[in-house]
Amino acid sequence: MAKTSHLLPFHILLVLFLSRISLATTANVTSEKGLSFQLLYSDSIHDPSLYANLTTFQRLERIIQSSESYFQWLRRSSYNTTVIRPRILPHMGIFTVVLSIGTPPGTKAFTLALNTGDSLTWTQCIPCNPSFPQTQPMFDPSKSPSYRFLPITSPLCHPPYQIQNNKCIYNIQYLDQTGAVGFLSTETFTFHASPPRTIQSIPNLVFGCTHSSHMNFVGEPSGILGMDRSRLSFVSQVTSQTTNGSFSYCLFRPSTASAGILRFGNDIVMSGPLQRTPIINVPNSNRYHLELNDISIDNQRLHLPARTFEVTEIDSGTVITRLIRPVYALVREVLVQYFNHFHLVPFPRPPFDLCYHLSPGIRRFFPNMTWHLRDADLAIHAEELFFIVEHNNDFCLGMVPDDHLTILGVLQQYNTRFSYDLQTNQLRFKHEDCSDDMGNL
Ligand SMILES: *[C@@H]1O[C@H](CO)[C@@H](O)[C@H](O)[C@H]1NC(C)=O
Ligand SMILES: *[C@@H]1O[C@H](CO)[C@@H](O)[C@H](O)[C@H]1NC(C)=O
Ligand SMILES: *[C@@H]1O[C@H](CO)[C@@H](O)[C@H](O)[C@H]1NC(C)=O
Ligand SMILES: *[C@@H]1O[C@H](CO)[C@@H](O)[C@H](O)[C@H]1NC(C)=O
Ligand SMILES: *[C@@H]1O[C@H](CO)[C@@H](O)[C@H](O)[C@H]1NC(C)=O
Repeated sequence: MAKTSHLLPFHILLVLFLSRISLATTANVTSEKGLSFQLLYSDSIHDPSLYANLTTFQRLERIIQSSESYFQWLRRSSYNTTVIRPRILPHMGIFTVVLSIGTPPGTKAFTLALNTGDSLTWTQCIPCNPSFPQTQPMFDPSKSPSYRFLPITSPLCHPPYQIQNNKCIYNIQYLDQTGAVGFLSTETFTFHASPPRTIQSIPNLVFGCTHSSHMNFVGEPSGILGMDRSRLSFVSQVTSQTTNGSFSYCLFRPSTASAGILRFGNDIVMSGPLQRTPIINVPNSNRYHLELNDISIDNQRLHLPARTFEVTEIDSGTVITRLIRPVYALVREVLVQYFNHFHLVPFPRPPFDLCYHLSPGIRRFFPNMTWHLRDADLAIHAEELFFIVEHNNDFCLGMVPDDHLTILGVLQQYNTRFSYDLQTNQLRFKHEDCSDDMGNL
């Protein structure tokens, strides 16, 4: 194991509040609380040498700037979306997806937060007032000939979206008083693709052009890529045209790689024995709910009573795993007893609750955890369960208590490939070294 493999440098402050996004007109926001927390780290997004000294983002920007002729060709040809391979970049605890929106002269490259807990894909559009500061130039719909408002006759223009002045509008409210308001629109999206060093465009994707936003984003990302199970989500839109409605990612520790790939359909390769668990239907929710039945620590089951977990989900917009409070208390107790044998004294270190000083040699005694899902066991290896806070030489349990929900967060998804199949309603997964996701591309 590389020495850097579970270092989590804490440098920059970002309030992460992606997961509990809900539409004000439908959601019961008062029942969903407390998912706002702060996680700090910085890892500049440098590409490996095979990408020269340009970032993945800059490379897409370059290609697009020099591809006027490509877009002329595009207008005449048909599209094959099975080959899109959007790049995934780490950003302050979450992951973002690199893409461009629009056609020349209005094409602009962006990073959007990858969020499996959200439906609408959106970015800020000129004019945007108020807006959050973004380093990537804002999308200007007036400069892109392919920009259209979504027709109000579209089947996707239905509540919670509303018709105002002959346009379909959205008003997304986040729990911490943040939100975004704008027009549902359609545009051409462009992505990195296969074979390597090619790009692929998909026309007429529905997205939100935000003209008023209150967000805690600082600099990046420039909006959100909605990947939930709703008909409007990005995955539903692109897979309805092509693959079997599936997508996959393999999230990596930011210190171990610079980029990964969001894969679709038969571009997803998972060999060997796979774990498979059903994605559960929960009324009025398009998130990826799972049935969690029990938890083990170092192969010792907690023997939780049936139906302890009412709502469990996997989410790419939540950084640290949340456990409903009674289960968290039990897990904490087991771990406190465990580390007590090593004479370690626990203390909180926000946003984490259970931390210890890292005594010499203790790392090889870190216990692991298993989530017993329906029909499948998710192994959370010790390196993913605990985080070493670099400068202080502390380590912390990467899980915190929650009053309502259990959510498998990003930190505990590292180094497992997850494949979401929306047709069979299955989540497949397998432990993998995700730092190698780019392979020899
Ligand atoms: C909203 O949540 C509160 C608190 O959990 C609950 O009492 C109330 O019935 C909920 N309202 C709706 C409309 O679901
Ligand atoms: C990239 O490398 C080339 C040559 O090595 C150099 O001229 C250029 O300034 C570098 N660009 C950046 C953005 O560092
Ligand atoms: C789309 O691309 C995939 C992968 O390269 C290929 O197998 C398939 O035949 C293509 N489909 C069309 C319609 O070109
Ligand atoms: C879709 O699924 C069917 C049955 O599972 C399979 O035969 C087919 O090859 C799949 N198509 C693609 C494009 O993955
Ligand atoms: C977890 O730790 C236990 C005890 O050391 C070991 O038997 C088991 O194989 C480990 N499981 C995983 C998935 O690493």
